[in-house]
Amino acid sequence: MTDESGAEVRPADPCALVIFGAAGDLTRRKLLPALHNLARNGLVTRDLAIVGVAMDPLTDETFRARLAEAARELGPAGVDAGVLAAQQARCFYVAGRFDDPAAYARLRDRLAEVHRGGPTGGNTLFYLATPPAFFATIAEQLGAAGLVRAPGTAGGWTRLIVEKPFGRDLASARELNRRLLAVFDEAQIHRIDHYLGKETVQNILLLRFLNGIFEPIWNRRYVDHVQLTVAETLGVEGRGGYYETAGALRDIVQNHMLQLVCLVAMEPPISLVGEAVRDEKVKVLRAIRPLTAAELREATVRGQYGAGRIDGTAVPAYRDEPSVARDSVTETFAALRLFIENWRWAEVPFYLRTGKRLAAHDTEIVVQFRRAPLALLPPEAGPQQPNRLTIHIQPDERITLRFEAKRPGPHLRMTPVEMQFAYDDLEGDSRSTGYETLLYDCMVGDPMLFHRADMVEAAWTVVTPILEAWAASPPRDFPNYAAGSWGPAVADALLARDGRRWVPPE
Ligand code: BG6
Repeated sequence: MTDESGAEVRPADPCALVIFGAAGDLTRRKLLPALHNLARNGLVTRDLAIVGVAMDPLTDETFRARLAEAARELGPAGVDAGVLAAQQARCFYVAGRFDDPAAYARLRDRLAEVHRGGPTGGNTLFYLATPPAFFATIAEQLGAAGLVRAPGTAGGWTRLIVEKPFGRDLASARELNRRLLAVFDEAQIHRIDHYLGKETVQNILLLRFLNGIFEPIWNRRYVDHVQLTVAETLGVEGRGGYYETAGALRDIVQNHMLQLVCLVAMEPPISLVGEAVRDEKVKVLRAIRPLTAAELREATVRGQYGAGRIDGTAVPAYRDEPSVARDSVTETFAALRLFIENWRWAEVPFYLRTGKRLAAHDTEIVVQFRRAPLALLPPEAGPQQPNRLTIHIQPDERITLRFEAKRPGPHLRMTPVEMQFAYDDLEGDSRSTGYETLLYDCMVGDPMLFHRADMVEAAWTVVTPILEAWAASPPRDFPNYAAGSWGPAVADALLARDGRRWVPPE
């Protein structure tokens, strides 16, 4: 079988995919469209069974209608009517409470029928798309109902995908790991980070390790500093209740941004299969130097948006969003400076910033190189700008390299110019929700893009002291940035103190 670009693809072995939280937003917006997209591209066969589980009183028919509606409205590449009809025929629903053993007995009977009705070989993938409070309970109930088969036993594999957030600090993440690992083997658990499903994020590894020109200069000798920005124009979009328990540090930095740091900073893995990549990533997390008491005060910044304008439209302050406390001290912006203490990166600052309701939607990584050692041209030729490699992750997927060139004319004058690679220029279908790769990888048993228990704990080890320091001294200046701005002024001061500035997104 080939995909739309003509490349050979291997469909995943058929399985029963059981989605807990099947009536929720994630299932509608991402999982169902991604499953249809996978089927359209021949990456799953029509034998894949989808079993939705939730408290809502749906039926097989109404769940099938939801699949069709989600694929039509949100499918990134449109709908194939024949493929959709086949998918609907293998789509089922079990209503029940996540803590009710009777629901699991019904699920067990339903799964037995599903496995009898198609060549799934008993393979079962459980997807926890529920609020995090249910993660451990569901795993334990699955175990008690005899639905978890140990790896290597006959009768098909059992795997588990766990959505974020995975814990809310180091202690709770450890406790969740402990409870999941009492039922599942680590090799069966796939802790998802949807950032790792993005094409350009995966491309960071290939850019660095499949090209000979970047690695020799990818270190403290040539790199001045690294900036990572995850800027959203969106607010909390009706998720105020969740966001009040999270904040920007937990929501974005602990998972997505630290994963980006790992991809930029890791050593070359010995292979792109198996555990090699995850081994290198966890070394980066462990090498992040704990912040000193002074750094916790001066090298971390938090903010919360007040009212403002986004694209010309007035938007309310965070504290005026639904389900948000009027005196909330939850941060909707976070910035920090980290150092990775190893031979490659010692003394190279990594600056991270993320926020909601910022001036532009933009996720990018800037690797700024040191200036050339000698300024050959006089000051009137213009300031000599450092070289920069920018990996634009969204909304447009591009990589640009900035360097100095001579301005045409009789005088020696400089101007910065850019070489650019745009992902859109490549052939192939990159239209995806980001979940296709992750679902497919889990079905074929490739763990590379998922968080391992030790990675999650190492990431919480980085972030927990900041959370604690912030909790111990509540902010007195919230809201401290207007919606539609680039965050609080103190975030600029963080870099200015080091003689640097945030690179303005284009
Ligand atoms: C999620 C966060 O993990 O990532 C959201 O919970 C955030 O708050 C989202 O909006 C951003 O993802 P993306 O893919 O739109 O950058």
